[in-house]
Amino acid sequence: MVGAYISTYAIEGKEETIVATQFESHYARECFPCIDEPAAKATFDLKITTSDSDDEIIANTPVKAVEKSVENYSATFETTPKMSTYLLAFVVGKFHKKSLKNQHGVTITSYCSLAQDPKVLDFANEVAARSLDYYDDKFGIPYPLKKLDQVALPDFEAGAMENWGLVTYRESCMLADATSPIDVKKNVALVVAHELSHQWFGDLVTMKWWDDLWLNESFASVMEYFAVDALYPEYEIWEDFFTGDCLAALRRDSLPGVQAVQQDVNDPAEIATLFDGAIVYAKGAHLMLMLIRLMGEKRFFAGIKEYFKAFQYQNTIGNDLWDILNKHSDFSVKKFMNTWISQPGFPVITDEVQQRFSLGPSETSDNVSWPLPKISDDMSGHYLINLSGPEFADAIKNFGNLSLEQRLRLLIDRMLLAKTPLVSSSSLLDLIPEFKNEASSAVWDIIASIIADLKLFFPAGSEYESNFKAFLKNLVASQIQKLGVIPRKNESLNNTNIRKVVLGIACYAEDAEIMKQLADFYDDDFSRINPEIRDLVIDSKFYFDEDRFFPLFLKRYQSSSDPEERSALLFTISRAKSNKYTEQLINLLKQPKIVRPQDHLHFYIYLRRNYATKASALDWLLKNWSYVEKMTGEKSIEDYPRYTASSIRDADEAKLFFDFFTPLAETPVLARTLKIARAEIDSRLELIKSDTKSLEKHLSKY
Ligand code: BES
Ligand code: ZN
Repeated sequence: MVGAYISTYAIEGKEETIVATQFESHYARECFPCIDEPAAKATFDLKITTSDSDDEIIANTPVKAVEKSVENYSATFETTPKMSTYLLAFVVGKFHKKSLKNQHGVTITSYCSLAQDPKVLDFANEVAARSLDYYDDKFGIPYPLKKLDQVALPDFEAGAMENWGLVTYRESCMLADATSPIDVKKNVALVVAHELSHQWFGDLVTMKWWDDLWLNESFASVMEYFAVDALYPEYEIWEDFFTGDCLAALRRDSLPGVQAVQQDVNDPAEIATLFDGAIVYAKGAHLMLMLIRLMGEKRFFAGIKEYFKAFQYQNTIGNDLWDILNKHSDFSVKKFMNTWISQPGFPVITDEVQQRFSLGPSETSDNVSWPLPKISDDMSGHYLINLSGPEFADAIKNFGNLSLEQRLRLLIDRMLLAKTPLVSSSSLLDLIPEFKNEASSAVWDIIASIIADLKLFFPAGSEYESNFKAFLKNLVASQIQKLGVIPRKNESLNNTNIRKVVLGIACYAEDAEIMKQLADFYDDDFSRINPEIRDLVIDSKFYFDEDRFFPLFLKRYQSSSDPEERSALLFTISRAKSNKYTEQLINLLKQPKIVRPQDHLHFYIYLRRNYATKASALDWLLKNWSYVEKMTGEKSIEDYPRYTASSIRDADEAKLFFDFFTPLAETPVLARTLKIARAEIDSRLELIKSDTKSLEKHLSKY
């Protein structure tokens, strides 16, 4: 799925073919000879010929002229602006399409395969039109092209790609309509807003070299939230940033060996190792937010406008941005940001004294410090605040008077501190019931994360696991009672989200009564199941009747073209427990015609979460590593050991894992991931050893 590649799909039994491109980071050279480095900007003229006159031919700029004959159809495109090769793109194939014009007069057209219903293009069109208008004003320079196209492709390695004027997407990241669940809409809105912010930050002004990739991605990763918050305030999207990206960044950044946001790259092969999403995207975005809160939004965006004016159609390094922001700030942005982006990790602050927060043995290099002009207890600081036991107890008593960000910080700090001897895991267990009646879905998101962490201590099938499940059933009962199992007309998005979280917990806890209620909403016509609980309904139905639904759902997965339905079905069948199906599931790992390579990693992760397939999935990976290497792009290969490591919780699996991967530890794409995996697994096994007994004891209280 890099260079120019072929994507296929079936419609009415016939195979259709699309040709598409993915040139970031260094794959334009696979398509045509060029100086394939971001600083080598040039203008490009393109002519594409296809044999099928029904094809759409799309590229960065509008079509200037077409020639049609019996055998051939050619399109010649307008000259591109001065740009980097990694942002060039073209797509050829048959599509449904829909267009609209935004307020600034740009024509936006969205495309999907013929297997889709064209109505799934409307939402992405609307978000694109509105975000372009938003950025035009926010960035002070109007979008410089006449058109913007967006294409949803059936095969796509990443989530989306910001090619100038021709943004490409994985189907699940672009297609949605009025009936899609709110989570799908939020995600589409964020992805579109992310890629469109790159049209300026990335496309108009581009990093000089890949070591400043973070500059592109961190900025886009914070802008997507500004844009979606401005366009869809009812989403309360910043809450998702705090409970999602921020938490993920802090978690990853606490592991010894983790990379810094800014990382040297000397060889193209090293570029692949840069994409630690939790760092380059999430931590980078969190640092940007910290800076924005310190400077004030007004001054920050005044600086950004100046930056685009000064550097349009050129290349920059991080310091070009900091130098301009310095002029708009009363502290040295350059010194502040350069320290934060060049040092891995973050501090924990105890009584105003800082120390690196690190899981596992501290390295000598941990004797570092970070500039902390103002310690704030909102969510903007990339650090932890270590309250003493009594301080924390007071804060919890006063919880109702805190702002939402203060509440989230309190809980996030606590759950991360509980991974160290500073705070015991059993105190988290005792903390959770305090939130039984909590009315904020963001707080429930954190509770769900804490619960996910605690699962670690209760092995599948053990007596303690069933005690833990009983504890959870009890925890969510009154919320489910209050909200009902089925969404109500005109309820708040907040309540819709809480319901999803608490029902998810009830299903994990195998609350038969709730699952029965959910299963009763099942309908073979999925569009008749309420979208907000559809996944849970399908899953519950399957839970009670695996024998009937495994073959049905597998078949349906193969024939469905709806990305949301497909991901729900794949997730559900991957939870099968009986032997006859678990074997089939493992075999699917090598059937790319059924589970597309783009979905393979997710499927593998699902199988690692199912206790009935956990061991055989690892066994499969180790036996089929060369197959995985061949199937997976450079950029994603390290995800396999990475996610495997995050699901290892006993010494036997750790041994299997390291016996296999240690000899590969020198491979550039794997080196860092394996080093982090070692620290992560060691510290997890240590934590299980030290905290399990007391957790079990506390559990018996409930
Ligand atoms: N530019 C990236 C995608 C990319 C990066 C492709 C490097 C190939 C190499 C794009 O802007 C991006 O960040 N996509 C994200 C989705 C985004 C909304 C976080 C992705 O693909 O995960
Ligand atoms: Zn991006």
